[in-house]
Amino acid sequence: MPNKIVFKKKISNFSKKILIPGDKSISIRWVLISSLANGVSTAKNLLLSEDVLASIEAVKKLGVKVVNKKNTCKIYGVGIGGYKYKKNLIINAKNSGTLGRLIAGVLIDTSFPIKIIGDRSLSKRDFARVAKPLSKFGATFKLTNNSLPLIINGSQKLKPIRYHENKGSAQCKSSVMFGAIKASGKTIIKAKKSRNHTELLFKHLKLPIYIKKNKNFDLIKIQKVNKIKPLNYNIPSDISSGAFFIALTVLSKKSKLIIKNVNVNPTRIGIIEILRRMGVKISTLKKKVYKGETIADLFVKSPKNLRSVNCPSNLNSGAIDEFLIIFLIAAKAKGISTFTNLDELNQKESPRLKWGSKILKMMGIKVITTKNSIKIFGNPELEIKKKIIVQKYLKDHRVFMTSVIAALTFGGEWHIHDKDSIKTSFPSFLKIVNAFKNEK
Ligand code: S3P
Repeated sequence: MPNKIVFKKKISNFSKKILIPGDKSISIRWVLISSLANGVSTAKNLLLSEDVLASIEAVKKLGVKVVNKKNTCKIYGVGIGGYKYKKNLIINAKNSGTLGRLIAGVLIDTSFPIKIIGDRSLSKRDFARVAKPLSKFGATFKLTNNSLPLIINGSQKLKPIRYHENKGSAQCKSSVMFGAIKASGKTIIKAKKSRNHTELLFKHLKLPIYIKKNKNFDLIKIQKVNKIKPLNYNIPSDISSGAFFIALTVLSKKSKLIIKNVNVNPTRIGIIEILRRMGVKISTLKKKVYKGETIADLFVKSPKNLRSVNCPSNLNSGAIDEFLIIFLIAAKAKGISTFTNLDELNQKESPRLKWGSKILKMMGIKVITTKNSIKIFGNPELEIKKKIIVQKYLKDHRVFMTSVIAALTFGGEWHIHDKDSIKTSFPSFLKIVNAFKNEK
């Protein structure tokens, strides 16, 4: 099977209602926390992508039983202190920064050294950002050039720490939070705003956590945890996956879309806020709160006109996984869009600021980039007539999916390599795309 896909035709005039798979951030957190619970936890609609399957493999290696059948996953938690640590354990986080970084916090009490490895993309990413704060608990971390492989030497005498998370990274914050529940005493985290799924889970489970929200940062205090209740969870859909179909609708003519049961947690809806500023009408219907998370159906219509945006950087963390697709939308807007303070964007599965600008340039859009910003000179009339080849992008799933949406909305003949990349986060992406193609 060739690992490349070719698109030659645009999509327009659709009216669709779709379902998107479960949220990746919540799925991975659910696996980790359920493995530490006392008793059996059940999840429905768990995302069955490679990143989550790697999380399940990881807890299985630690002696946790997992039964994954149909749309239900059961994890037989062993309790805090219940992992079977043994010699020469290797955990493969594959492509997942979330798994690799969060589990580093979970494993700070290991009684034998554990090695964490990952794929080519993950092995280029920064792990010092978690090793540094986690080592203050009293465990030791040996990195290779600030990256994977990482060897964790745990400690049974973990002391609480004070940590200032200043990148707006939920992975760093959550990694330290998972460490904190194993350390005696009160850990204090001052964290720049980022997605708060770990906080909501800890609160829902009534773990000893205290959160004070300030304008630009949150103050989180956590005490040692002795017992965690099992957690049954019906996982809502991932807005970061839905974002590609929101973009498809915004960039297509005369189209409408409803995405059912999406997690619209306020820390995740940067894309909605940015698109509203660009003149797109997106409504949240049937809003409800579920285990602290906000869930709604999303309704979006293709706008008549799309205007440029000067994106305030306080929206960056809530849209961090959506910038590639937002840049693509800005390519069609009237005027010059500006996005700044995007240092974290080059820390992803691929250097995404670089890839975002590369795709737009291949499309014939003028962009000006610095090391952490991009100016996009939108062209509402753009019609691509040439052949575009997208390859060698470290198999970043979001580069692949953004290129597919570009092909379906701007025209031209697109040859997009490494379609397997979608297995990490959104294995059914092309199936859903096909359902749009077959409508007319
Ligand atoms: C995630 C946090 C974000 C995001 C990633 C998932 C999480 O990363 O990009 O896809 O689940 O905590 P950072 O925390 O590194 O910004």
